[in-house]
Amino acid sequence: MRKIKKAVFPVAGLGSRFLPATKAQPKEMLPVVDKPLIQYAVEEAVEAGITEMVFITGRNKRAIEDHFDKAYELESELEAAGKQELLDLVRNVIPKNINCIYIRQPAALGLGHAVLCARPVVGDDPFAVLLADDLMDADAGQPSVIAQMTRQYEQEGGSIIAVQDVPREFTRQYGIVSGTPYKDRLEKMHGIVEKPMPDVAPSTLAVAGRYILSGRIFSYLEKLDKGSGGEIQLTDGIAAMLRDFPVYAYRSAATRYDCGSKLGYLKASVALGLKHKETGVEFAEYLRTLK
Ligand code: UTP
Repeated sequence: MRKIKKAVFPVAGLGSRFLPATKAQPKEMLPVVDKPLIQYAVEEAVEAGITEMVFITGRNKRAIEDHFDKAYELESELEAAGKQELLDLVRNVIPKNINCIYIRQPAALGLGHAVLCARPVVGDDPFAVLLADDLMDADAGQPSVIAQMTRQYEQEGGSIIAVQDVPREFTRQYGIVSGTPYKDRLEKMHGIVEKPMPDVAPSTLAVAGRYILSGRIFSYLEKLDKGSGGEIQLTDGIAAMLRDFPVYAYRSAATRYDCGSKLGYLKASVALGLKHKETGVEFAEYLRTLK
């Protein structure tokens, strides 16, 4: 089984649910406590042993490239001021052995199109996809979600999609999968549909922004027409691929925060603020004072 060494981060979306905050800055740079969303996702991939980070960017996304690059001016100011701890923070945003590759998606034509833009770098290799606006907080003692999934991949092969159970009234917000139980936490997928209404949704298992995909996905994506919302949907590519090749749904051991929505973002900030070593204790005290 080939090891997963490449991760694709589609970050070219418009982030319209977060306007005006996302008018001039990428949604993926919104901070939860003290780190931008994209850094949480990259750290997840690093933990899984992935070394090639492929970002699919668009207009207004320069801040992401800058975040993972050197910041000469800032670093020399911090060095001159003897602020070693902050200097280490800035320098260690990403480990030295990691390569960052940036590909521009010319227009926001959909998540499926964004993933297809990674083809020249990914080739035939299996690869991970991480949507940074889905912040995944792994259960205590568990590895990152994408690390959980690469372990599953090493046993099963095929493609693996992370899912979470959602209340039925929310199915219209997600890709929803159908499948049959296969192994602990794994279902063999039979179908996947984008944002079905609750009365026709095949299940309540919703896709959760983490994927391990066979390189075969590209040949399905390139044949797609526009789907739901007039966009080229990754969901449609997966639906076509699973007729020919195995795809599994993985119930991850984690909590998902949908940080592309205001409510999800607020929930993530509270949950991670409570866990943070600098803010946790005082923040918990503050929350107790609220009515
Ligand atoms: P979303 O559905 O969250 O879309 O995309 P969005 O444009 O970012 O946000 P809203 O809905 O307008 O508020 C899911 C993921 O796919 C990426 C986004 O950056 C996000 O990580 N994406 C989406 C692209 O990279 N390109 C696209 O054309 C569309």
